[in-house]
Amino acid sequence: MILPVYIYGQPVLRKVAEPIDKDFPVLAELIQNMKDTMYDSDGIGIAAPQVGVSARIIYIDVDALSDKFPELKDKRLVLINPEIDIDEDSPTESREEGCLSVPGIHENVTRHTKLHINYFDENWQEHNEDIEGFLARVIQHEYDHLEGHVFTDHISAIRKQMIRNKLNNMVKGKVDCDYRIKPYKPARRR
Ligand code: NI
Repeated sequence: MILPVYIYGQPVLRKVAEPIDKDFPVLAELIQNMKDTMYDSDGIGIAAPQVGVSARIIYIDVDALSDKFPELKDKRLVLINPEIDIDEDSPTESREEGCLSVPGIHENVTRHTKLHINYFDENWQEHNEDIEGFLARVIQHEYDHLEGHVFTDHISAIRKQMIRNKLNNMVKGKVDCDYRIKPYKPARRR
């Protein structure tokens, strides 16, 4: 089921999400809904807070980028309770990011290129992996959502100033995008 995407300004996007355990109700359904919502909005990653659920669950599908990054072929990941350890000695790279919860804004974000991740998949199998390159960026972006951060938190003061009006409008529900959304304040109809 396609769920509305919670938009910048929604308090759930600023909360530290809760770890989940095996008794978490309707986990499979939530993961399926996250997938449906992400594919409907042409995203490559989604975190549970973006559909209004403050839980440490992420879904990533970067296969669409495998033309550019061959190592991403068939890369689809469900990350439950992920813990990441960013390799602070790894090179940093600046690349443009966007976010389903921040529609219409794309900004360069500098991130480290290597990390270690520990997580559980949808079958509660534990994984420990070293990740590098573009996937490391996507994981950091999605992990930020579990910590109550969005990518615009990372941009320079001057860039923040440039997009301030757009962000303020978003909080007020003035958003233009072609998928279902749930802004903090629904825009008043005329
Ligand atoms: Ni995002």
